[in-house]
Amino acid sequence: METSAPAKIILLGEHAVVYGCPAIAVPVSSLRVTASVVYNQPSGLGLRIVAGGQNQTAPVEIIWTETRDDAIARAVRLFLDALDAAAPDVTISLDSQIPVASGLGSGAAITAALGRGLAAAVNKELPDSVLNDVVYEVEKMYHGTPSGIDNTVIVYERPVYFVRGKPIETLIIGAPLEFLVADTGQSALTRVAVADVRRLYDAAPEHTQGLFDAIAALVKRARQSIEEGDAHALGLLMNENHRLLQQLTVSSPQLDRLVQVALDAGALGAKLSGGGRGGNMVALVAAESSRKVGQALDYAGAARVFQTVVGQEKER
Ligand code: PMV
Repeated sequence: METSAPAKIILLGEHAVVYGCPAIAVPVSSLRVTASVVYNQPSGLGLRIVAGGQNQTAPVEIIWTETRDDAIARAVRLFLDALDAAAPDVTISLDSQIPVASGLGSGAAITAALGRGLAAAVNKELPDSVLNDVVYEVEKMYHGTPSGIDNTVIVYERPVYFVRGKPIETLIIGAPLEFLVADTGQSALTRVAVADVRRLYDAAPEHTQGLFDAIAALVKRARQSIEEGDAHALGLLMNENHRLLQQLTVSSPQLDRLVQVALDAGALGAKLSGGGRGGNMVALVAAESSRKVGQALDYAGAARVFQTVVGQEKER
């Protein structure tokens, strides 16, 4: 049995979303975490979880017991409670294609794939709403105060217009949008950037709230542009969002450089994506400039560049 969950990118609104502003995120269905579930032979080994894949030199093997107390064990316990099931006698192998600590939601995707794997192993339904709640709880263990956008877009695997604490709103895509996502190669912890923004807010609440409000206004206009299929307007809004994120101090010289390189090569818009300070940037490109922008990002030293088209990808 195999279950999976995708990566995600935040198109606009990161950081401000923690403070109740809207944000827009899309799944990246071509980049996934897969959980393979195999009944143990011989039986009686208990629940084994083997995590490997990208960024890991050797697979990490965990034998789950009631008394374990690391993050993965706590996630397993939450899932088994939600499923009202005992630990199955299976090996779940997690294989991730998503780079860690780079703004692509690898942690939430691993947890979501694991939850689906456990549900398959005990042969029970795990509705997306319950999966989403558990993945959010696990995200809190890692991040402290996540807005919930990562787990939502990853679990439901559809473009979302997200407001913290509000019911999920699926985004209508008026026309397919092509994005290039480029990795600075520098990992950065989201919770550090989030804590720094909090400090900024505490030190200068009015100024910082003004930046959040400006971001919220951009996100609302971006939603309209996306629904109308107006890529040019969306690109300009992304550029503006990047400038506001710079003022929130969450960009970095490498992110700024890749953003500029993409724009110089003809991208319609570009900005950092996710927690910032490193990790990935995202560029919106027209079909005719896609190759040139991709090559420019490669040439500028991006650790990895991939393309994703929103509004065209098949549902899981
Ligand atoms: O770094 P990522 O992809 O996990 O994105 C974090 C997005 C933030 O808005 C910075 C934090 C959050 O919890 O929404």
